[in-house]
Amino acid sequence: MSPLTALASVALLGTRVNADFIPTVLGTPRVLGNVSDPTIDRDSCGSDRFGDRALWTCRDSQPFSKGVPVLPIYSSSSSWTDFASDSTPLIQTWTDAAGNTETGLLCSGKNNEKPFFPYPSDECSSNTAGACDDGTRYVLWPNSPPLVTNEDTSTGAITAYTWISEDHINGSLTLLNPGPGTILYEIKSDPHMNGDSTGLPTVTTIQENFWTADEMPYGVYGEVVVNDVAYLYGQNAVRTVGLAKVSAGSVADKSAYQYYVDGVDGTGVSITNAGAGGQGTFYYSTVWNLYVWIGQAGISVAPDFYITTAPALEGPWVRPINFYSADYINWSYTLQAHPGLLANSSENAIYLTYTINDSGYYWTPLVYVQWES
Ligand SMILES: *[C@@H]1O[C@H](CO)[C@@H](O)[C@H](O)[C@H]1NC(C)=O
Ligand SMILES: *[C@@H]1O[C@H](CO)[C@@H](O)[C@H](O)[C@H]1NC(C)=O
Ligand SMILES: *[C@@H]1O[C@H](CO)[C@@H](O)[C@H](O)[C@H]1NC(C)=O
Ligand SMILES: *[C@@H]1O[C@H](CO)[C@@H](O)[C@H](O)[C@H]1NC(C)=O
Ligand SMILES: *[C@@H]1O[C@H](CO)[C@@H](O)[C@H](O)[C@H]1NC(C)=O
Repeated sequence: MSPLTALASVALLGTRVNADFIPTVLGTPRVLGNVSDPTIDRDSCGSDRFGDRALWTCRDSQPFSKGVPVLPIYSSSSSWTDFASDSTPLIQTWTDAAGNTETGLLCSGKNNEKPFFPYPSDECSSNTAGACDDGTRYVLWPNSPPLVTNEDTSTGAITAYTWISEDHINGSLTLLNPGPGTILYEIKSDPHMNGDSTGLPTVTTIQENFWTADEMPYGVYGEVVVNDVAYLYGQNAVRTVGLAKVSAGSVADKSAYQYYVDGVDGTGVSITNAGAGGQGTFYYSTVWNLYVWIGQAGISVAPDFYITTAPALEGPWVRPINFYSADYINWSYTLQAHPGLLANSSENAIYLTYTINDSGYYWTPLVYVQWES
């Protein structure tokens, strides 16, 4: 299948072996409110820390008019959220689009009803949702949060990347191009250049089909940066999970990548238990000295959060277990962890979000989970 599998095997980072570790939740997870921009209805968000703020990127977004989502749909948006003086996420109360009092993380930033991740010209780019004349749609939906690869501590300038699958769907959400190519986008934020605090980062398309249709879509399934090296997980059309690595400064240079190849014949790239099949987030836990994945088991509409850990990026990963189930509201998906919201590297906890799509609109509950030490 993928020509990448012919490349040489590489040894990846290993850390202290703490095999088969699954944490225990301390007490009852706390629902802190919603992550919300009262002017935008939006689906499926992820976040990373950008200096003293968090940047969120989301999928389909629509303006709210008197509490009702209206046109246009734009396929992605982004926003900032703030931290309190003690570095915890700033929980506030405001009036939502329908005039109700809402509590949670208040989002800001002007999207101007345009996709944050721009469309290539051959993907029905004249429509903000990638809708084509024949009733099909290119959905350039981020699956994973922005991956911060560099932060200039003197200027506050930040560089991050996002890989997005060029999914082409029809009116019944059938994927018309299984195993599509992947676009690499570069996100740049410079608080000084952007001037006002609502200015959103700029996005550049590094390459359409950075990964071609026959290659593993590394970076779409998840990513983590450790010691200035970016590690990227991909999941292909048959749900095999693969791993690539590249120096954090060379993400845009395809020739700089190395690929983890399991086994001897160079074709067994599957990394068992690196994720439970559905959407989720990879991160590194300093408290446990382990890699972590939190997310959803396969295609599901229930907010059942699974976790697995591993001493090294290529595993062995523990069989994922369900550690928390939020109150079920149909549909619930895009289960994400937000390590960038933690106040410091010794906080033994994690923030979670998921998307609820019900009653004709979307919302994003924020949950705080503490772990037993
Ligand atoms: C979150 O949003 C939902 C849907 O709009 C709403 O019912 C709920 O009250 C909100 N939660 C908080 C804590 O404001
Ligand atoms: C989408 O494609 C599937 C598979 O070809 C087909 O069964 C379905 O009818 C299509 N839906 C629309 C709205 O065209
Ligand atoms: C969730 O919603 C889908 C589509 O509206 C429906 O088919 C399904 O029965 C619902 N599931 C539950 C458990 O309510
Ligand atoms: C880290 O953050 C947690 C949560 O806010 C706080 O309780 C703890 O005191 C902080 N630890 C350090 C070393 O700053
Ligand atoms: C989910 O969102 C889609 C698009 O807005 C909508 O058609 C569908 O009815 C929603 N599902 C539920 C259960 O509200």
